[in-house]
Amino acid sequence: MSGQASRRKRVAVLISGRGSNMHSLIAASRLDDFPAQIALVLSNKLDAPGLAAAQEAGIATAALDHKAHAGREDFERAMQDVLAQHNIDLVCLAGFMRLLTPWFVSQWAGRMLNIHPALLPSYRGLHTHERALEDGVKIHGCTVHFVVPEMDAGPIIAQAAVPVLDGDTAATLGARVLTQEHVIYPLALKLVASGAAHIEGNRVLTGETTSERLLVVPTPA
Ligand code: GRF
Repeated sequence: MSGQASRRKRVAVLISGRGSNMHSLIAASRLDDFPAQIALVLSNKLDAPGLAAAQEAGIATAALDHKAHAGREDFERAMQDVLAQHNIDLVCLAGFMRLLTPWFVSQWAGRMLNIHPALLPSYRGLHTHERALEDGVKIHGCTVHFVVPEMDAGPIIAQAAVPVLDGDTAATLGARVLTQEHVIYPLALKLVASGAAHIEGNRVLTGETTSERLLVVPTPA
């Protein structure tokens, strides 16, 4: 393949913290046939550990302190400028702890992904592992979805399910989920960046004929 159609998509990963999902995306993007490159890591926290790690990995970084901007829209316009400067095609939110306005979301409609540590549409919002334990569910997991103005909603690209075990705490359950986050985020990005994923209504169709790559179900330990 050659020319524009085969150009690897330029991805910005937006973080606020440790950046373990960012690492999984960077690692995947370094594989030969991956259809995307991580062109930028942007953080709203100047001291985010993930930001330093991205620099060490040789990736362009930007830090924009949201508190240094007059308001949410000012901050987002600054982000938009940085994304434009880096010719970004796709945005991956990876532990980015800022709510986004409908304006910003509309700039990236169908081009912005988020990872959420629960099987959406269950457990939107924070403290998902604690709430899953409180409810006594036996299956928990994580979701990669396209971002829409409503928080933790939007067409689902990939999910992974994990068992909830008797001795689980929020920490052990969260760690089990996180391991699967690192599997499905690169998978979802690959599906989107390659053009395989299409949004139809609230569904994402990928042309996959088996479920194996879209719903990751690890064998219980
Ligand atoms: C992950 O659990 C992700 O699902 C959520 O925020 C956390 C970020 O973790 N959105 P990390 O910074 O990628 O390690």
